Amino acid sequence: MTPVTEPTWDPRQYLRHADHRTRPFRDLLARIDDLPDADADASADTDAPGLPDAPGRPGPRIADLGCGAGNVTVLLADRWPTARITGYDTSPQMLAEAAAHARPPLLDFAEADAATWTPPETYGLIVSTSALQWIPGHADCFPRWLDALAPGGALAFQVPGNFTAPSHTLLADLRASDRWRARLHGTGDRTASVLEPTDYLTRLRDLGCTADVWETTYLQTLQGEDAVLDWVKGTALRPVLTALADDPEARDAFVAEYRDLLREAYPPGPYGTVFPFRRIFAVARKEK
Ligand SMILES: C[S@@+](CC[C@H](N)C(=O)[O-])C[C@H]1O[C@@H](n2cnc3c(N)ncnc32)[C@H](O)[C@@H]1O
Repeated sequence: MTPVTEPTWDPRQYLRHADHRTRPFRDLLARIDDLPDADADASADTDAPGLPDAPGRPGPRIADLGCGAGNVTVLLADRWPTARITGYDTSPQMLAEAAAHARPPLLDFAEADAATWTPPETYGLIVSTSALQWIPGHADCFPRWLDALAPGGALAFQVPGNFTAPSHTLLADLRASDRWRARLHGTGDRTASVLEPTDYLTRLRDLGCTADVWETTYLQTLQGEDAVLDWVKGTALRPVLTALADDPEARDAFVAEYRDLLREAYPPGPYGTVFPFRRIFAVARKEK
């Protein structure tokens, strides 16, 4: 198998389009109703020093896999103010940015690879947004994550479903072109591991839970010059930018070629540049 370069993330670039990037998470949350609270006794056994001696039961235990800069993880804390929430990510850059959102002792962030993460306790919600596409075979993790849910708990995620859009096909073609193929060997297309909605539905139902699966195409209207390029610099282009980081001349040449292709594919209109973005959502519930 071709070795794959881990992309270096740039939280500031990623957050330049925070509104559009946060919307699917809000839409996912809107489909998650009540969560089971953490078991009071079990929660007392966890290694969360300084948990408040709040009267009554503790709120749900929540894990956010691939939490990024933490700006969406805080939305979980707003929604379930008594929940104990941990955002997990592999990127030191993203985790450093997320640290500013920590609300000890209820909301914290930690380094963990979601591909191998073994839930250390029972959860009311395991959630992930815009992250599982970076984990080939992520659906094979579903049994492990569902096992860790309390009865009535939810596994909820959102992944992009836009890999046949020009933004991605042009990038893939350019990367595979004679000029760039050898140079970019090892920056493989990690984002091709997303399943179709029906496949997610089947996988989740076969594991014995209920599943609400849907897709939405957002007609995102971006502002500014080369707006689509600016968007992908925060996400899909990261592996290439990482691979060429030590050669600014080559990096700029690649970006210029890609920019020209994007300008043709996404011409600006009178209201901005329309960048259609398909996303896939799933909320699976474990039986009570
Ligand atoms: C596009 S960002 C999404 C961040 C956040 N969930 C959001 O919606 O804004 C993808 C994040 O997934 C993280 N990621 C990628 N592979 C991962 C893995 N195997 N385990 C944990 N995090 C991962 C990246 O470091 C990055 O922060």
